[in-house]
Amino acid sequence: MGESWVPQPVTTFSSVLLWAGLLCLAPAVKSNGPPKALLTLEPPWVNVLREDNVTLKCEGLQTPGHDSTEWFHNGSPISINQESYTIPALNLKDSGEYQCRTEQTSLSNPVRLQVTSDWLLLQVESLVFMEGDSTMLRCHSWKNKLLHKVTYYHNDKALKYAYECFDYIVPQVNYTHSGSYYCAGQMGHVIHISKSVMITVQGGKSSVMKGLIIALILVVVIAVIVAAALYYYKRHKRTASVPDEIGSTVVESSVSYSLLKHTDAPEEEESGRGGYQNYQ
Ligand SMILES: *[C@@H]1O[C@H](CO)[C@@H](O)[C@H](O)[C@H]1NC(C)=O
Ligand SMILES: *[C@@H]1O[C@H](CO)[C@@H](O)[C@H](O)[C@H]1NC(C)=O
Repeated sequence: MGESWVPQPVTTFSSVLLWAGLLCLAPAVKSNGPPKALLTLEPPWVNVLREDNVTLKCEGLQTPGHDSTEWFHNGSPISINQESYTIPALNLKDSGEYQCRTEQTSLSNPVRLQVTSDWLLLQVESLVFMEGDSTMLRCHSWKNKLLHKVTYYHNDKALKYAYECFDYIVPQVNYTHSGSYYCAGQMGHVIHISKSVMITVQGGKSSVMKGLIIALILVVVIAVIVAAALYYYKRHKRTASVPDEIGSTVVESSVSYSLLKHTDAPEEEESGRGGYQNYQ
């Protein structure tokens, strides 16, 4: 009978763990809802020259044969319902943010397309990368005019030169790749230099994983501390309610009394004190 109250703190401990677990899951539950559509560009460059062509594609669930995709340019709907949207001969006014959604997806993240008027452009797939991504840079001439003697620069330092036009490939981006990029090349007899493009590299998937693991360990440690504190507190309260000179048999009876009382009224607070008064 004496140890029959032990399950009580155990229950407290498991409910603390349960709440900790629920708190962990809360963000995941919150983000439930229709998945976002995915807007991709083809070719993948987010910066383009006037007269280039680009196709925007909206990926997301929808009934086959239903052209129910919605497109938005700077927040305004476009009267296109196909899942792919080609803009021929881009104009400066085609710059801006594009979004799409399908029947069963919510609005995609915005994709910002920048159209400029120039001879040469250093094209990028994104302005922000995660560490570990692979990417490509492209030195692109207006209307794809013949280009040679191409050099890529990073923070004013030459990265690579070749007589024939080529793409510069970065297999694994890391923070050292942040900074400004441009390229130079010869069209006809004239050497052209592109404007600079700023690229930012953010902490990658590995650091996100590290953060998650640290958060999880923290939650478990806090749960253990809280449970231990509760256990200690309850035990202490119980012992403290019985004067020292009274023997252990009395402690036992007092405990079983409060347990009985507890079973009668489950909502009531543990009342060791009541038991004590009864024995006065
Ligand atoms: C865009 O497409 C048209 C038609 O297919 C083509 O003639 C033109 O060369 C393309 N523009 C560029 C810059 O590739
Ligand atoms: C970053 O990447 C470059 C080449 O891609 C590599 O040489 C360099 O060691 C990397 N730096 C770090 C800190 O990982």
